[in-house]
Amino acid sequence: MLSATLFSCNSNKPAPAIPADKAVEAQVEKVLKGMSLEEKAGQLVQLNISVLEDDTHEAIDPAKLDKIIGQYKVGSILNVMHDAAHSREHTAAMVRQIQEKSMEAIGIPCIYGLDMIHGASYLIEGSLYPQEINLGATFNRKFARQMGHAMAYETRAAQVPWVFSPVMDLGRDPRWPRIWESYGEDPYLQAEMAREETLAIQGDDPNHVDLEHCAVSLKHFMGYGVPHSGKDRTPAYIAENDLREKFFAPFLECFRAGALTAMVNSASINGIPTHANALLLTGWVKEQLNWDGMLVTDWADIDNLYVRDHVAADKKEAVAMGINAGIDMIMDPYDPECCTAIVELVKEGKISQARLDDAVRRVLRLKVRLGLFDKPVWDGAYPEFASKQFADESYAAAVESEVLLKNEGDILPLKETARIFVTGPNANSLRALNGGWSYRWQGSADEFAPQYNTILEAIQNRFPHVSYEPGVVYDETSMAWQNEDASGIAKAVAAARKADVIVACVGENSYCETPGNMDDLNLSAAQKELVRELAATGKPVVLVLNEGRPRLIGDIEPLVQAVVDVMLPSNFGGDALAALLSGDENFSGKLPFTYSKHINALHTYDYKVSEHRETMGGSYNYDAVMDVQWPFGYGLSYTDFAYSNLSVVAGADRQSFQPGDVLKVSVDVTNTGKRAGKEAVLVYSSDLVASLIPDVKRLRAFDKVALQPGETKTLTFEIPASALAFVGADGRWRLEAGDFRISCGGLGVQLRCTETKVWDTPNI
Ligand code: BGC
Repeated sequence: MLSATLFSCNSNKPAPAIPADKAVEAQVEKVLKGMSLEEKAGQLVQLNISVLEDDTHEAIDPAKLDKIIGQYKVGSILNVMHDAAHSREHTAAMVRQIQEKSMEAIGIPCIYGLDMIHGASYLIEGSLYPQEINLGATFNRKFARQMGHAMAYETRAAQVPWVFSPVMDLGRDPRWPRIWESYGEDPYLQAEMAREETLAIQGDDPNHVDLEHCAVSLKHFMGYGVPHSGKDRTPAYIAENDLREKFFAPFLECFRAGALTAMVNSASINGIPTHANALLLTGWVKEQLNWDGMLVTDWADIDNLYVRDHVAADKKEAVAMGINAGIDMIMDPYDPECCTAIVELVKEGKISQARLDDAVRRVLRLKVRLGLFDKPVWDGAYPEFASKQFADESYAAAVESEVLLKNEGDILPLKETARIFVTGPNANSLRALNGGWSYRWQGSADEFAPQYNTILEAIQNRFPHVSYEPGVVYDETSMAWQNEDASGIAKAVAAARKADVIVACVGENSYCETPGNMDDLNLSAAQKELVRELAATGKPVVLVLNEGRPRLIGDIEPLVQAVVDVMLPSNFGGDALAALLSGDENFSGKLPFTYSKHINALHTYDYKVSEHRETMGGSYNYDAVMDVQWPFGYGLSYTDFAYSNLSVVAGADRQSFQPGDVLKVSVDVTNTGKRAGKEAVLVYSSDLVASLIPDVKRLRAFDKVALQPGETKTLTFEIPASALAFVGADGRWRLEAGDFRISCGGLGVQLRCTETKVWDTPNI
């Protein structure tokens, strides 16, 4: 409750996160004035498209449209018919039909929203990019911009103006089934990439989003990614200072960049369901940021307040609880009676007229900002739709995202003439390469996009001598993704004996959300068995990990000569891998998460100094060892890079700085090897003594640089000293006098902050 007491008073309103536009506000007020209570209630409800579908599940039933839009005046629809991607034309025609009805019946456009997650993932011909976790591994902001641009452009081309992206949850617990939807475990990396994506999706002016851009929905606000049990949609317990300092930080960056909507965390933090958390929804976001955007619930999460969480007795109480906490739109998603509940609650005084009007204003403002009143539907050729340019960008992002983790004896690149045996359940699967949110919720790329190359096909296209046996195969039923058939192992091992090198493609089949829960983070027993038996042939093994989270492989890693983690690189991921394995391209991806080794030791890179024997400084706790498989930021290349001349200049002298200074960091990076390559340069800070146990280090800046053999470039970064502040025991941001270390590429510079500063605003 610290922040409640410290920062809940809003006497000094901060500058608005999105500057208000007079014409937008005037139009909102004009529409609001003419609305009945029923119309207002309808604007606060979002239903699933299934409530409009006819018996074919491919078209809208006009009678249902009359009921949902005409009678209940529902303001928003989401999702795809029949849980499947449709063509651009089909989607556009469906939205047009809804818009015509909405304009005719209530004179207010409906807003359609879709889960476009790594591109236009619900359009059959849409362009898909590697998932966010891969883009995190590129450490290259360009790809987040490109993906955001293509996603918004193609979504608009299908008459949809709102995407439920970017995903902002930090991938800090590998047990959680959604970590691949985020940019990784680090708040700064997440903030930087998501800001770029947000700007690319929305464009530069959130008050006037044009016909090539969409509104974002930052999700899921917040703390969703660290459930105590590791299972999706279960309670999290997060220290208040971590909540502000790490979990809120990426949201803050995107709200400040103009994000128009956010979707709320389905679960709970410290015992409070987020959908009922007025302090976070109204306090932190709406008041402390003076943000006039719109908060939408996640799927059925008002129901969850009474059905699952037992903080409300029934639906009506739950609706009042959510709206009074700050929810503006309820993703119900099946029951229009939610509208009736809102009407009754307002009449009974359980939702005030002021709160109702505030929520309606936020919905209307979004629709005005998107231009939907002027153009509920629009024309446009959208010539870049599914363009070669988007495909090329997706391929380039895949190349920069696949991470080389081990290359013993330089077994890679593979020799042109090698007899390559490709195996494993992931070798011939587009579904696995793409992961969830790909044409279907649970993923289904083989069904919708067979024209792309699996890993096997791409290797066959690139190398002359390729053989294949899967060894282990997945059950392709979407929810049964963990079931495996290992009866082919013997056949695979026999085939492997005839090869020079084995490329074993293991990992996970696609899944999404709660169906992705599991009880053991280890790579499956069947796949480990496959790898063990392959290794026993004595042939060198290249282990390819195609997985949404780092499945533990500590016991089999020593048996293989090379490891590449391709994560979820999407439709061009196979081509990218073949090019990397052959040496046509060079690796430059680095892990955006810590790859853990032991099930009882799941760490993040920003652990406390007191967690590790080497950083705690001579204590007796011999057990406290940070024994991870590969650390955050780890990734090899076919060339070598050397770092030199790290220098940090701040203020008047080189040894010290003050809270108002900007640290100017520069470092020389040289390609000392024989091949061209790209290097992600990561700059960290460490607070050496602080009033709360300091994190061992925190990422503060990064950039990606391309270097020819022998070439040196100087990289410069500016880090405001305030970025080194932390949230203290009293909930306030503080930068304390004392020593800091700035490190980069194994080099370090120590300097002293000469003054303590404590901020009295919640966000700095
Ligand atoms: C997911 C969200 C998604 C929503 C709408 C929920 O189950 O948690 O990420 O945006 O469904 O499809």
